[in-house]
Amino acid sequence: MVIPVLTIDGPSGAGKGTVSRAVAKKLGWNYLDSGSIYRSLAVAALKQQADFGNEALIVNIAKAMVLEFDCGDELVVRLDGVDITGQLGLESTGNAASIVAALPEVRQVLLQKQKDFKKLPGLVADGRDMGTVVFPEAKNKVFLTASAVERAQRRYKQLIEKGIDANLIQITTEISERDRRDMERKTAPLAIADDALYIDSSDMTLAAVIEEVLNLIH
Ligand code: DC
Repeated sequence: MVIPVLTIDGPSGAGKGTVSRAVAKKLGWNYLDSGSIYRSLAVAALKQQADFGNEALIVNIAKAMVLEFDCGDELVVRLDGVDITGQLGLESTGNAASIVAALPEVRQVLLQKQKDFKKLPGLVADGRDMGTVVFPEAKNKVFLTASAVERAQRRYKQLIEKGIDANLIQITTEISERDRRDMERKTAPLAIADDALYIDSSDMTLAAVIEEVLNLIH
């Protein structure tokens, strides 16, 4: 039995998470937020005050961590039995995740954890290399992006709405730095799969993006 997979890749802040969750809900499919796996590893490494330059140590932390995902309306993630959901969305966690994600052996160790999400009736997988490396066999692939300025503005708005102090210039710089790191790394860099539908959401509403992705499936 072929399990249908829709992959949604793209840079940080393009709206992949929101679009993927909405599409998964609409289709009744499972949802993989692969960034949260790298973010969880970053939380585990930061907790242990690990040296991010020590690949062997980071790999050991990745192998040892036990992750549980509750994919309800809101994603809840437990690391070794402790709820770390609140720490996952922090800018510092995202930046640290991008650093550990550049380590080739880390990606190898976390590959199976991601593949395990492929279950009936289907999977929507969101990340950087879902369509190119983790699920190259997927029938439907999307590359969702927006300009760096637009993505920084959206992120800034989100943080301010949550009552978190934010600086637009700093966010823009961090987004550009993260793009560069995610695109230039040797292993599984952020890249557009040959068979992906390219969507630039800079001037699109969220509803329009969701509709375009659903049209691809139907
Ligand atoms: O999608 P996100 O912002 O939660 O991802 C956090 C970091 O994890 C991102 O900067 C790069 C890395 N990542 C990755 O390398 N591969 C993925 N499939 C998902 C995320």
